[in-house]
Amino acid sequence: MGSAHLAAILLCVCIIAGGAIADSQNGTNGVPRPAEVRIGALFTFDSVIGRAVKPAIELAVADVNADPTVLPGTKLSLLMQDTNCSGFVGTIEALQLLAKDVIAVLGPQSSAIAHIISHAVNKLQVPLISFAASDPTLSSLEYPYFVRATQSDYYQMSAVASIISQYQWREVIAIYVDDDYGRGGITALGDALAKKMSKIAYKAKLPPGAGRTAIQDMLMQVNEMESRVYVVHVNPDSGMTVFSAAKSLGMMSSGYVWIATDWLSSVIDSSGHVDSDATENTQGVITLRQHVADSGIQQSLLPKLNNLTRKENRSSFSSYTAHAYDSVWLVAHAVEQFLSAGNAISFSVNQNLQAIKGSSLQLDSLRVLNNGDKLLEKVLQANFTGVSGQVQFTLDRNLIHPAYDILNIGGTGFRTIGYWSNFSGLSVAAPENLHSVPLNSTTNDIQLHDVIWPGQTAEKPRGWVFPYHGKLLRIGVPLRTSYNEFVMQDDGPDGVKGFSVDVFKSAISLLPYPVGCTFVLFGDGLKNPSYSDLVQKVSENYFDAAIGDISIVTNRTRLVDFTQPYTESGLIIVAPARETESNAWAFLKPFTFQMWCVLGLLFLFVGTVVWILEHRTNTEFRGTPRQQIMTVCWLVYVLHNISVFQRVQAFLLSDI
Ligand SMILES: *[C@@H]1O[C@H](CO)[C@@H](O)[C@H](O)[C@H]1NC(C)=O
Ligand SMILES: *[C@@H]1O[C@H](CO)[C@@H](O)[C@H](O)[C@H]1NC(C)=O
Ligand SMILES: *[C@@H]1O[C@H](CO)[C@@H](O)[C@H](O)[C@H]1NC(C)=O
Ligand SMILES: *[C@@H]1O[C@H](CO)[C@@H](O)[C@H](O)[C@H]1NC(C)=O
Ligand SMILES: *[C@@H]1O[C@H](CO)[C@@H](O)[C@H](O)[C@H]1NC(C)=O
Ligand SMILES: *[C@@H]1O[C@H](CO)[C@@H](O)[C@H](O)[C@H]1NC(C)=O
Ligand SMILES: *[C@@H]1O[C@H](CO)[C@@H](O)[C@H](O)[C@H]1NC(C)=O
Ligand SMILES: *[C@@H]1O[C@H](CO)[C@@H](O)[C@H](O)[C@H]1NC(C)=O
Repeated sequence: MGSAHLAAILLCVCIIAGGAIADSQNGTNGVPRPAEVRIGALFTFDSVIGRAVKPAIELAVADVNADPTVLPGTKLSLLMQDTNCSGFVGTIEALQLLAKDVIAVLGPQSSAIAHIISHAVNKLQVPLISFAASDPTLSSLEYPYFVRATQSDYYQMSAVASIISQYQWREVIAIYVDDDYGRGGITALGDALAKKMSKIAYKAKLPPGAGRTAIQDMLMQVNEMESRVYVVHVNPDSGMTVFSAAKSLGMMSSGYVWIATDWLSSVIDSSGHVDSDATENTQGVITLRQHVADSGIQQSLLPKLNNLTRKENRSSFSSYTAHAYDSVWLVAHAVEQFLSAGNAISFSVNQNLQAIKGSSLQLDSLRVLNNGDKLLEKVLQANFTGVSGQVQFTLDRNLIHPAYDILNIGGTGFRTIGYWSNFSGLSVAAPENLHSVPLNSTTNDIQLHDVIWPGQTAEKPRGWVFPYHGKLLRIGVPLRTSYNEFVMQDDGPDGVKGFSVDVFKSAISLLPYPVGCTFVLFGDGLKNPSYSDLVQKVSENYFDAAIGDISIVTNRTRLVDFTQPYTESGLIIVAPARETESNAWAFLKPFTFQMWCVLGLLFLFVGTVVWILEHRTNTEFRGTPRQQIMTVCWLVYVLHNISVFQRVQAFLLSDI
């Protein structure tokens, strides 16, 4: 009866305290503090996230009111509206909430409603603090009053892209629900993958609330494609249907990779106990969960939450619970500072709406929060430690330290295989331990823990297959009329046989995956075809490849890539042998007459130089001029014999 009791009390407070009450409580600067401030909450009660956050918000309001240090003398009162999973109802409900003079709105849960309501709160100057809308485009400058008290999918998709690049997959198929949430997320995924040199091969969109038949049709379609890596970004309330349909189509078996964004972990977390259906259909799936640092605060909160939820069989703790609880405190701290700064809470008539006369909708009740910009400023300046960790905003209005747990579902639960954080990328160490130490590049390349993939296999799936209805490779085969041992026409199933065909088939069979190919004969069978034309056809993509006794010549290597040669060409140069008359002076042939003259002159020159240097000191170089000339000649002769002639000889021999 706990929450019913509490809700009843809150309701009474609302009824008694209707209107903006300015009691005689005094704040600083003599501005009286109100006895009550109202905040609104906007989510779908009967949804996975709604069930997880409702007790948390109620508990947080009770905790704020019980805490004497924040908002002393002022009570926070909570008005909740059910958006009922519908953009239309949700928008009307949101406007009704705004008409009740709330100073801040928690929610909405859905990104689609957030887009519409953001326009309204911009004009009414009421901060919209969403604990669940994760569409990255909501961070745009167009929506200054939208504050995201959860992580943007921009970061989640960076995490998904990091996982994909870690396992070296190049193409993925995105399965998503085609609304603001799905589109925004998948666009961010495309950008994140592009940075990692990967891409989305196909975007399979589902209408919001798609039935099982539509999902099955879509899955059968993507099953025929090449990529086997699927990223599933859908709503928690209908997402499990994707996996049960995939299971029935045999797509949860080995070879497939399934990565689900944090919707899946919120389904599993919120089911409280291990749901046999959920884990049975998702064996081997990788999913993400917003990282919530394990702190003492969280532990002390759990018993209180369980006390609230036990009677109504509601959820257990999930990251949405933590963010919802913290966003109430975020508002409480901001309002405290807003009031301390001497601002009063007051509303004024919206001039724009005044102009719309004669509407039967009671638009006058939508009033502008005076100094709402100052309240927004206080919200964005928040700096406190909440259940989900440090609550603080960066300059681009995102929560600091975005981080995700990476979970692998297996058996009757899941294992944490690693973490991703904006600061350190993928790691096996919890991100809060990494924030404190300076980034160490040697610890940065740690792999994730081992994953059990679908089909209970530990081997990393290749991530792609040859599509069932894909094009076969066209292999060009020359239709020779002579020397057809290499390739020849055949009546067998392939239509060709021969040595080249055998080599090709053996090579193909060594590949770890099947390759479909068909052999296409080239040539008219009357004369040998032009191999240059065959190569040309490969480079023109008429053939995907060609086999045969094709010589590797320069011209052809400019057009196509050749394999290693697998047979000796057997080509040799045959030159006619000419009879040349031979005589005794044939040894003079290597050099011309002039060359012999130069050699002779060099001979004498070297001898003269040696004589000039030696004859003054060396007694061997003395004597009669005839003796001296003899000595020089001998010396030069010996020197040349040893060195020059040997070198000339070597040169002549080597260059033949
Ligand atoms: C649980 O709720 C009951 C009444 O709703 C209250 O008396 C009790 O103290 C609560 N227990 C805890 C642990 O908060
Ligand atoms: C109001 O202000 C007066 C003097 O500044 C102080 O004595 C009194 O306690 C204050 N009342 C409250 C409710 O804070
Ligand atoms: C919520 O929507 C469901 C169907 O979408 C409808 O049956 C139900 O009446 C709605 N509830 C409210 C309170 O609008
Ligand atoms: C709570 O859940 C249990 C088992 O999950 C079930 O037996 C019980 O009826 C539920 N109680 C309510 C009030 O729904
Ligand atoms: C936030 O608070 C912590 C301590 O509570 C402080 O160290 C830090 O400087 C604060 N940051 C900002 C931006 O005020
Ligand atoms: C994430 O990292 C980038 C680059 O390191 C930085 O510019 C950005 O501010 C970070 N975001 C948050 C929310 O910390
Ligand atoms: C980085 O890690 C290595 C090995 O773990 C360690 O030896 C080194 O001191 C670390 N450097 C810093 C700056 O922490
Ligand atoms: C190389 O190819 C060009 C044009 O494709 C041709 O003109 C040329 O004669 C070829 N050269 C030889 C050596 O085959």
